[in-house]
Parts: sequence; structure tokens; C-alpha cells
Amino acid sequence: MTQDELKDAVATAAIDDIKPLLGHDAIIGVGTGSTANRFIDRLAALRDNFKGAVASSDVTAKRLRDHGIEVFELNEAGTLPVYIDGADEINSRLEMIKGGGAALTREKIVAACAERFFCIADSSKWVTQLGTFPLPVEVIPMARSYVARELVKLGADPVYRQGVVTDNGNQIIDCYDFMIDDPIAMEARLNAIVGIVTNGLFAARGADRLLLGTETGVERIMPN
Ligand code: 5RP
Repeated sequence: MTQDELKDAVATAAIDDIKPLLGHDAIIGVGTGSTANRFIDRLAALRDNFKGAVASSDVTAKRLRDHGIEVFELNEAGTLPVYIDGADEINSRLEMIKGGGAALTREKIVAACAERFFCIADSSKWVTQLGTFPLPVEVIPMARSYVARELVKLGADPVYRQGVVTDNGNQIIDCYDFMIDDPIAMEARLNAIVGIVTNGLFAARGADRLLLGTETGVERIMPN
């Protein structure tokens, strides 16, 4: 199967998994990226079964609206029954690197408001140690050089993602050659650097369920 077919398979499986959580008052959280897009396209058929969605990016909000799904501000939505999103890497504890699409800050905020986080990913995202994928960090523009120097002190090779402005008006630094031994500790350490808005480690609040697309079907994996 191709990577796109695996993404299609997990998007379809996620629809089955969220159905029991829907209802006329339900507002669900929806992530960003090519896997999330496939999920949104399938969610359209269920749009009369739930109230609407909170989007983790402007791109996702537009796609939801284009499908006739009402998009709510997070501040008016309260606690969400579920958040569905992809990942750039995920390990057996369901800790993730996210932010390849530069939406990490809103993704982390929406995930924080969700009772459950279902990650949908093809098998290429499954790793034993996080860090082969360059860790994205969203920074306040005036802090970019300072943050880069601090990241070097931590052992990373920081690279400014040229030409990218996040939905929040900030910039992205990608940390190359930065294998992560303790994702929860590193997430907290990065959060403490002045000028970093969000880092792409989703470890303190990881996923609760992984739907992993493999050659033999969609595996449902819980954190170990
Ligand atoms: C966007 C993300 C995405 O979830 C991540 O990049 C995975 O994307 P895709 O489903 O296209 O592989 O974190 O900021």
C-alpha cells in the first residue's frame, strides 16, 4: 500500500472510532495536515450528527467550512470530547513530534481542551526514539536568534524555516540532529526558554489512542 492509501485507511478508521462520541451538542477538535484532511473529507458525511468543530489552523477551518461543518472558536466550545490529528513521529508511549505543518501551537491548545486525543498516522511515523524528524519550535520573531543560540546549547542544529509565518504571526525553527531521550523533560525545558511560544513535543499530553496504518491493516495502539 502507498503512504496515501495508509492515510486514507486511518482516516476511515477514525470515523468509526469517533462515532460513539458524537451527539447534537458535540464539538470536536480537528487537526492539521494531509492525514487530518482525509479525516475531514470523511467527517462531512456525519455533519448532521454533531454540532461542529474547533480547528487547529486556518487551513483546517476552511476545509471544515467548505464541507458544511460549522467551526467554533475554542473559547466558546468548552471541553471537547475528542481531538483527532496526525503526527510527524510517534513512539510507543504515544508521545509525538508535531508541527511539520507549522500548526503546533493551536494543535497543542486544542489537544489540551480535549478529553481524548486520537492520533492518526501511517506506519512511517512510528519510531522507537523521537528526533529523526526535525523538532519544530514556534518563536516570537524578535527572539529567533536568541532561541537558536539556546537550542545549540541543548545540542540541536537549529534551522530557520524560511518564508513560513504561523497562523499566530510567528516563525518556526526546526531542530535537526536532536534525538530526544526524555520527551517530557525536554518539552518542559524548551517551554522555559524565553521567546519560544510552543515546541513540537507532545509528550506531557500525548495521544490516548493511535490508529496506525500498516500493510496488514489499521492497528489501534494505547500508550504503554
Ligand atoms: C501539522 C502537524 C501534522 O499533524 C503533521 O505534520 C503530520 O502531517 P501529515 O498528516 O501531513 O503527515 O503537526 O502541524
